[in-house]
Amino acid sequence: MRTPVIAGNWKMYKTGGESAAFVKEFLPMVAGVKGVEIVLAPPFPWLGLVASLTAGKKIGVASQNVHFAPEGAYTGEVSPAMVKDVGARYAIIGHSERRQYFAETDDSVNRKVKAVLAAGLVPILCLGETLAEREAGKTFEVAGRQLRAGLEGIAAPDGTKVVVAYEPVWAIGTGKTATPGQAQEVHAFLRKTLAELWGSGAADAVRILYGGSVKPENIAALMANADIDGALVGGASLKPATFAAIVKFK
Ligand code: PGA
Repeated sequence: MRTPVIAGNWKMYKTGGESAAFVKEFLPMVAGVKGVEIVLAPPFPWLGLVASLTAGKKIGVASQNVHFAPEGAYTGEVSPAMVKDVGARYAIIGHSERRQYFAETDDSVNRKVKAVLAAGLVPILCLGETLAEREAGKTFEVAGRQLRAGLEGIAAPDGTKVVVAYEPVWAIGTGKTATPGQAQEVHAFLRKTLAELWGSGAADAVRILYGGSVKPENIAALMANADIDGALVGGASLKPATFAAIVKFK
């Protein structure tokens, strides 16, 4: 049985005060929720704050990125050990905005996934095709390449800790959600690819999240699919009531 993960990616939104206010409002809303791993990914400066405000509440905290080196002369960067030190347990890696605006490549994504695992954190490995790639019939080719490259050199059982997030770029922040059928089709393909890499037992243990305009209105239909194990939520994770409604999809 795979425990679903519902993760909120705040991107570059919220001050420290707004982050604290979110947590204060959100905690009572999800206090009774069982059987779902809830994750919040605030901007770097608020990781420690959100981790301390959610301590003991069964809510995990994620960074939105890390550097792949444990330490070094890399001005402006933050290592996996540093985000762990302030209480994060997950790190989002390879988000399409990082690939698009910050020149992340399959290779840097792979180095980051390895560094995150080595630090004892859970990587949330993001991948997904652009609209042009989908229209050119390259969805599976792109998703498969990004998955294999992101996991290069990583073996099961360590690898099964990785959470994969399928996020079609054309669905991020656009209000266009992949239909549950479109998402399930890619998720099943990703699980088949994982089975080719690690065997079917290991593939069955990996959580594969969907991301791209997830809202309270569409989460249940997405979650009804066999290979959709949760969601990575951007815009709809910024308001406590909206994100809580997604967390309570059942
Ligand atoms: P969105 O973003 O929910 O605002 O589409 C998803 C993401 O970027 O993870």
